[in-house]
Amino acid sequence: MSFKLEPSKDFKKPPGPVCLIIMDGVGIGAEEQYNAWYCAKTPFLDSLRNGKTPKGNIVLNAVVDASGRSVGLPEDSDMGNSEVGHNAFGAGRIYSQGAKLVNESMDSKTFKTGETWKWLLENCKDGKEGTLHLLGLWSDGNVHSHVKHAYALLDAALEEGCKHIRFHILLDGRDVSETSALDYVGPLEKHLASLREKGVDVHIASGGGRMVTTMDRYEADWRIVQRGWLSHVLADTETIRTFSSASEAIQTFRKEENGVIDQFLPPFIIVDNKGSPLGRMKDGDSVILFNFRGDRAIEISTCFDAPEGTFHHFDRGCMPKVRFAGMMQYDGESKIPKHYIVSPPNIERTLGEYLVHNNCRRLSISETQKFGHVTYFFNGNRANKFNEELELYVEIPSSRERENTRPWMKAAEITDSALAAIDEFKPDFVVLNYANGDMVGHTGVYHAAVIAMEAVDVSLSRLVNGIIERNGIAIVSADHGNCETMAEVDKKTGKPVKGNSPEGWKALTSHTTTPVPVMITGYGIEKYEIDESVTWGDANRKKAGIVNVTATCANLLGFEKPKEWLPGLLKPKSL
Ligand code: 3PG
Ligand code: CO
Repeated sequence: MSFKLEPSKDFKKPPGPVCLIIMDGVGIGAEEQYNAWYCAKTPFLDSLRNGKTPKGNIVLNAVVDASGRSVGLPEDSDMGNSEVGHNAFGAGRIYSQGAKLVNESMDSKTFKTGETWKWLLENCKDGKEGTLHLLGLWSDGNVHSHVKHAYALLDAALEEGCKHIRFHILLDGRDVSETSALDYVGPLEKHLASLREKGVDVHIASGGGRMVTTMDRYEADWRIVQRGWLSHVLADTETIRTFSSASEAIQTFRKEENGVIDQFLPPFIIVDNKGSPLGRMKDGDSVILFNFRGDRAIEISTCFDAPEGTFHHFDRGCMPKVRFAGMMQYDGESKIPKHYIVSPPNIERTLGEYLVHNNCRRLSISETQKFGHVTYFFNGNRANKFNEELELYVEIPSSRERENTRPWMKAAEITDSALAAIDEFKPDFVVLNYANGDMVGHTGVYHAAVIAMEAVDVSLSRLVNGIIERNGIAIVSADHGNCETMAEVDKKTGKPVKGNSPEGWKALTSHTTTPVPVMITGYGIEKYEIDESVTWGDANRKKAGIVNVTATCANLLGFEKPKEWLPGLLKPKSL
C-alpha cells in the first residue's frame, strides 16, 4: 500500500508549521479545589478555552476522550496513559493495547504454547534446578503491569511442575493509590506462604519503589536501574538493605521517613535467618519481566540481553547466565528484548511515517522524561527516525530532582528550543510535549501541580503566539488526565476523601479517565469548524477521541487522511 497522501479538497496547508502541543496529564475535570488546572492562574489557557487568544485569534474547541476503549484499553473504566495516548495521537486509529493483548493471552493461556514459555521453563522443570524469577511492577495499575498477569504466570509455572520461584516486586504508588503497597504485597505473601506449605520453594526475593529502583526511562538516570540490578540479580547485601519480608521492608521504610510514598521506597533484599539472600540469580535460572509497557522496561531488559563488552552504563558484576524474556517486546525495531511472551500491537502507518513519504519535515521535542513519548510512542513504539534528513528529534535534559521541587520543569527551555528549531529546521509538522501536568501530578503535591499548570500556561502563551506569528497552526491537547484531579474523590459525594495531604485530603498520584481538551488556533482556522458528528467509533459515547487528532493534523497539512485512520475533528465552515 502506498504512503502517498492525496491533496485535501477542503483544507489548505498554512505557510507556517502545524504544531501538535501535548500538555501531558491535563484533563478537563470538575471545578473543584483539588483541580490544579482550575485553581491555577492560567490566563492564556482560559482564553483558548473561551474561543479567542488574547490577541483575538479564533480558537476552535473540542473536548475528547483519552481513556478506556477510545485508546485501545480493555474497559472504559481504564484511565488513559501516555503510551496509549501518544500511540493514538501518532497512529490515527485504535489498536488493542498491551494491557488487552496480555489479558487475552493470560486468560486463554495461549502463551503456554509459545516457544518463549517453553524455552524459559526448560531451565526450571523435569529435574532441572533452575529458578523462575518473576520481576515487575506489583500493582493492578494496568499501565505498566497487572498483578493478575504475574499470578497467571505463577499458576502456569506451577502446573508445569516448576519447583523454585522468586518474585522481585517493584512498589507502585503512582498508577495506584500512593501508599497502597501492602494491599498488593500482603495477599502475595499470604499466597506464597500457602504454596510453601504445599512444598513449593517460592518467595519474594527483592523489591523497591519503582521511581528509585529498576524502572528508569529514556536513560534519565541509569543509577535507578543499577539499584535494581544490585537487588534483584546480584542480591548485593553490602549495598542494599536486607529484611526478612517485603512487608517488613515497607513498614520499616515508612517509619524511617515520615510521609514517604510507595514509588520512592528504597530497594531491598529479602534474606533468610542466616542473612543469606533468598533469590540471588544464578546460572541456569530464567527471568520474566512481567511489565507489558516498554518505556520503563527497556533499560533493565538491555541489562539482561546485552552481551559482555557491549554494555557500558554500569558494572554488571558477576553476571549470571540466565534466560530472560519480557512480557512483550518493548521495541520491535531494536528487538528489545530478544525473547518475549506476548506479541505487541503492530502499530503501523503512523503519521510520522506518512509525513516522511510525503516529503514533510517534522520536529519532535520534549524533555527527557517525555522525549520517547513524542518519538518512540508517537511512532508506534519505534525509537528510530524514519528519515534522518526530514526529521529532527530534540531532547532537553530533565532534572533528576523530584518534580514537585521544580514544577516548572523544562517548559521554558522546550519553548525556547522549539521556536529556534522552527526557524532553523523549518518543519512542516511539530509534536511537542510539556511534561509538567503529569510528572508533577504524579508526586501528589497539590500546590506544586498548580505551579506546574502556571508554568505550562506561560510557555504556551509564548509558543502559541510564536506559531501564530509564523503563520502556523497550534493544536493544544493532552494525552490523558492527571493534575486536574489531585485528590482521591468520593464517587458518591464528588468531594475529596479525607487524608494526610496539607490540604486535608488523600492525594491522588495516578492518571484519570477525565476527557481532555483540543484547542486549535492559527492561520486560516476561521475557515473551519468542529465537526460534531465525528466520534472515535463508539456509537454510545458519541464523542471524538484523541485518536481523531491525527487526521486533523494531516488535514491541516493539506492532505486527505489515509483510509485506515479515523476522521479528523474539523470540517470547512458552513456558510
Ligand atoms: C509513569 O510511568 O510515570 C506512569 O506510570 C505513567 O505515566 P505516563 O503514562 O504519563 O508516562
Ligand atoms: Co503519567
